[in-house]
Amino acid sequence: MGELALTKAVRGSILHFKRDPRLGSASYEYLRDGILVHHRGRVERVGPASEVLPDLEPGLPVMHYKTSLILPGFVDTHVHYPQTEMIASKGKNLLDWLNTYTFPVERKFKSYAHCRYAAQFFIQQLLSNGTTTALVFSTVHKVSAQALFEEALNLKMRLITGKVLMDRNAPEDLLDTAESGQRESAELIKEWHGRGRLGYAVTPRFAPTSTPEQLESASYLLREFPGTYLHTHLSENQEEVEWVKQLFPEAPHYLGVYEKHHLLGEHSIFAHALHLSDAELNRLAQTHSALAFCPTSNLFLGSGLFDIEAVTDRGLRFGMATDVGAGTSFSILQSLNEAYKIAQLQQYTLDPLRAFYLATLGGAQALGLSRHIGNFEKGKEADFVVLNTSLPRLLANRFDSCETLEEKLLILMTLGDDRNVEATYVMGRPLFERHRD
Ligand code: GUN
Ligand code: ZN
Repeated sequence: MGELALTKAVRGSILHFKRDPRLGSASYEYLRDGILVHHRGRVERVGPASEVLPDLEPGLPVMHYKTSLILPGFVDTHVHYPQTEMIASKGKNLLDWLNTYTFPVERKFKSYAHCRYAAQFFIQQLLSNGTTTALVFSTVHKVSAQALFEEALNLKMRLITGKVLMDRNAPEDLLDTAESGQRESAELIKEWHGRGRLGYAVTPRFAPTSTPEQLESASYLLREFPGTYLHTHLSENQEEVEWVKQLFPEAPHYLGVYEKHHLLGEHSIFAHALHLSDAELNRLAQTHSALAFCPTSNLFLGSGLFDIEAVTDRGLRFGMATDVGAGTSFSILQSLNEAYKIAQLQQYTLDPLRAFYLATLGGAQALGLSRHIGNFEKGKEADFVVLNTSLPRLLANRFDSCETLEEKLLILMTLGDDRNVEATYVMGRPLFERHRD
C-alpha cells in the first residue's frame, strides 16, 4: 500500500531524447499517447499507453493530460537570480547596463531577507516556465548563494549556484578580495556542494572584475574541491573584449586569460562566447569546456550572434540559457524562438528536434548532469514539464494543420511560452500547476 502510494503515472504525448539528433537516427522517443510511471521520484517506465496501462496496479493514480506534450524539465544553463527584478532595463550595451542597473540592484543582496524573497520569487519563475534545473549567478554576498541553496533544497530541486567573485572594477561595496572570496566560497562549498541535489559553481563574474590573484584562487578552489563547477562570462561584447586586452596585455586572447589560470575543463561553463577566434573555439573544444547560449540576452543588449554552426562543428557542448535579467524571458521556449532566428541570420537552420534536445538533454550534458536528468531513462530523476498544446488559439489552430513532429515542435517553440506550461514536476511532485479560469 505504502509502496503503491509512492508510484504515480502521467499520461499524454511524450518526447525525450537519447542523444543529439544531429548524431543520427533513433535519437529520440516520441509517443503520441504515452505513459510515464515514476516511483519515489524516479522514472520507472515509459511506453505507449496501450502497453503500459494493462500492467499498472489497480488503483495507481494516472494523471491524464489530454492535448499535452510531456518533456523532461527544461535546463537553464545560465541565469542571474538577483537580476529578476531588473529584467527589461534599457542599456546602451553590456558595460553601460551593468553600471546603471545591475550593480545597484545587486547591492540589495547584502540583506538575507531580500535574498530569501528574491530566491523564492526566482524559483517560482523557473517552475512556472517549466525549468527544473538551472546554473545560477548569485551576487558577491555569501548570503545570496545561501538563500538560493536553502530554497532549492526545500523543494528538492537540482540547482547549481555560487557566490560571485569580484575584487576590482565594480563599486567598492560590491567587491570582495581574493582572500575573502576564496574563504567564503570554500565555506559555501563545504556546506552545500553535493547536499540534496545541489552543486557549487566557483563564479568569477568575468575577467575584468577579477585580479589575476583572484582568478588563481578560483583555480585553487576547483582543485581543492573536485566536482565543483567553474561558471563565468566569456566574450559577450566587443568593448568587453577590448577591455580584457588592456587589462591582460600578455594574454593571447580573452579565453587565454581563463586558461592561464587553469579555468578550462569539462566542469567549466562559459556564458555567451560570441566574439571568439578559431583558436579560442578550438581550445574550448580541446579542453571539453561547455557553453551557455543566451539568445534573448544577446539580442536585447545587441551583443552579437552565437555561431551554432561553428560550435557544433567542433563538437562543443552547449545548452540553452535565459540570462535573465539581460535576457528578457524565463521561458526556454522563447529562448528557442530567438535562437532559431539568430541561426537564420547566419544562414543556418536550427532543427526543431535539436532545439528541444538542447533545452533538455543537451543542457543536462552541458552541466555534466545527464546521469541524473535530461531524459526519461529508467532510474533518472522524474523532473518533467507538461506543455498544453491546445492554447493559445493561434498555436492550437496551427497545430491542427500540421503532420510531423518537427512541424509541431517549431510551432511550439515559436508561439509557445509560459502560458503553455500546464504543470512542472520535480522528483515526481507537481511543484507548479496552472490554474485556469
Ligand atoms: N558580464 C559580466 N556580468 C554580467 C551580467 O551580469 N550579465 C551579463 N549579461 N553579462 C555580464
Ligand atoms: Zn549572465
